[in-house]
Amino acid sequence: MKKLWLGSSWKMNKTSSDVAGFCDAIASSLATAPAGLQTFLIPPFPYVEQVTRALTRPGTLTGVQNACWAESGAFTGEVSMTMARDIGASLVEIGHSERRALFNETDETVNLKTRAALAANLRPLVCVGDTLQEKHWQVSLESIVRQVKIALHCVEPGQLSQVILAYEPVWAIGESGIPATAAEAESGLASIRQALIQMYGEQAAHGVTLLYGGSVNPDNAQELVQQPSIDGLFVGRSAWEAEGYAQLIDLIRPYCNGEQND
Ligand code: PGA
Repeated sequence: MKKLWLGSSWKMNKTSSDVAGFCDAIASSLATAPAGLQTFLIPPFPYVEQVTRALTRPGTLTGVQNACWAESGAFTGEVSMTMARDIGASLVEIGHSERRALFNETDETVNLKTRAALAANLRPLVCVGDTLQEKHWQVSLESIVRQVKIALHCVEPGQLSQVILAYEPVWAIGESGIPATAAEAESGLASIRQALIQMYGEQAAHGVTLLYGGSVNPDNAQELVQQPSIDGLFVGRSAWEAEGYAQLIDLIRPYCNGEQND
């Protein structure tokens, strides 16, 4: 039994009327979720406050899908970490593969944003992943470890308990994604844990929360959460409807601290 995380980013989906319906429909599932399940939701910016207000389960975190590394200034169109906190976010997604592919997010900006998030008391949820080509070349593990090392450059050991890393293979995400097998997900996250141990030592390294994301669904969720290096799931499509989110809670409930037999 362990503490498990379950969260979803809505990407650029839903409008305010969908948000109210979702939050109402999910409320009872969240209220009865085991104490050892840390839930979170990452809506688009305009709905963060609405979601934060509507989700009454104590401890359900809300986040934003991106924020700027700079504190303020001439950065038209950007939102700072402090502003994200102001609207109720407690975590910030950084470096999702769609942002890396479509919006010029680089390892360097991921690092700047990770440090800015920590400085602003937001938990960075840093996404790393290998491409299909890297998988074909058998350099997946090197690629994700490299991304992790750059993301955490200059992050202090004492800050690691705030850091969440999600292994999201680029080839596993979205409509055309092929879900990673539990063994592939475990191998990616075990390599990340090993790299963290080398960088920071056993104790601090184990403070980092490690999630798997990419075509998580009701068929693979239970096997994934039983892997030793997986602390939880970061879900897209399968959790965009409240019923889907609730189903995933039910499926992983037996593997959480706080359930009977714990
Ligand atoms: P998916 O998205 O679950 O729809 O594949 C995952 C993600 O992009 O984080």
